[in-house]
Amino acid sequence: MVHHMLPWLFPARSSTVRPARPDDSQAIQRLIHRARYRHLHSEWRPITDWIGRATALVAEDRHSLVGFLVAPADPPRVAWIRAAAVDLNEKTTFQLMRQLLEACLEQLSGQGVRALCAMPVEPWLTPVLVDLKFGVVEWVITLEKPDLSIPRRGNQTAVVRPAVWEDIRELADLEAAAFEPRWQYSLEALETAWKAADCFTVAEVAGHVTGFQVSLVAGQRAHLARLTVHPSAQRRGIGARLLADALEKYVELGVEQVSLNTQTVNSASLHLYHAFDFRPTGPPLAVWERPVGR
Ligand SMILES: CC(C)(COP(=O)(O)OP(=O)(O)OC[C@H]1O[C@@H](n2cnc3c(N)ncnc32)[C@H](O)[C@@H]1OP(=O)(O)O)[C@@H](O)C(=O)NCCC(=O)NCCS
Repeated sequence: MVHHMLPWLFPARSSTVRPARPDDSQAIQRLIHRARYRHLHSEWRPITDWIGRATALVAEDRHSLVGFLVAPADPPRVAWIRAAAVDLNEKTTFQLMRQLLEACLEQLSGQGVRALCAMPVEPWLTPVLVDLKFGVVEWVITLEKPDLSIPRRGNQTAVVRPAVWEDIRELADLEAAAFEPRWQYSLEALETAWKAADCFTVAEVAGHVTGFQVSLVAGQRAHLARLTVHPSAQRRGIGARLLADALEKYVELGVEQVSLNTQTVNSASLHLYHAFDFRPTGPPLAVWERPVGR
C-alpha cells in the first residue's frame, strides 16, 4: 500500500506566505476557529484589528488558508506574537510555523524592532521557538483572589477617580517610566484599553496623576490587566489604594473572583498581591524572546 507511506516519504511542500489583507479577515477568523494549533494572546484588541495594519501574515496552500501569524510592534521596539494558528497535521505544522515566523522576523527587522516575544500557553509553539533560537527571559504567573475582601485601604490622601480620555497621554509616560519596554502599554494600547475597560481608575496626589489600574469584567469574574504607579511615588500605599478601590468597584459590578498576572521576579507586585490574598493558580508561563535583525 504505497500511497499510505507517501506523506512519510516526501517532506511537506512549502506554503506561500504573504501579508494578510483586509479581505482575508473572514477566512482568518474561520481558521482561528477550526485550527488544531492556535495561540491567542491578544489582550485588549480583536485579532482582526491588526490585519492589514501590522505584521500580520497568512500562509496559503493550494489557495486555501492554512496558517496565520500576527506580531505587531507595540510598544514600538518590541513585538509580541498576539495570534498564531495552523490547520495542518503535527509534522507540517512545525514547518509552516517556522516559515511564518521567519517571514515575520524579516519584516520586523525592516521596522526597527529589536525583539520578538511570545508567551505560549499550549505546548505546540515552543519547539518552533526553540528551533529559531528564542530563549526564556522571564516567567509570568497568574494569581487569583477567591473573594473580594479588602485587607488594607492604602494611601487615603490620594484621590482616586475614573480615568478620562485626557489622562491617556500622561498614563503612557507613566508606563514608560515604570516598565521596561517588553511590558509597556503604548499610547495606542492605552487608548484601546480605555475604550474596552470595565473599570479604569487613576490616583492623583497633589493634583498629579501618579498611578492607575485598568480591569475587565466578564460575568462574576474580573481581570486586573494593569496596575502601575510612577517610580517616584512607589511604596507610599498608592498601589494598595488603587487595588482596594478597584475591589470596591468590582463588588458593585457583581464580581466574585479576581485574577491578574505578574512576573515571578516582580517582588513589589507580588508583595502587594500577597497582602491582598491573591494566590497562584498554577505553574508560571515562560516568556520567550529573541533579538530581531541581529
Ligand atoms: C507594583 C506596584 C504597582 C506597587 O505600587 P506601590 O504604590 O509601590 O505599592 P504600595 O506602596 O501600595 O505597596 C504595597 C506593599 O508592597 C510593598 N512593596 C512595594 N514595593 C516593593 C518592593 N520594591 N519590594 C518589596 N515590597 C514592596 C510595600 O512595602 C507594601 O507592603 P507593606 O505595606 O507591607 O510595606 C508598583 O511597584 C509599580 O507600579 N511597579 C511597576 C509596574 C508593575 O510592576 N506593576 C504590576 C505588574 S502586574
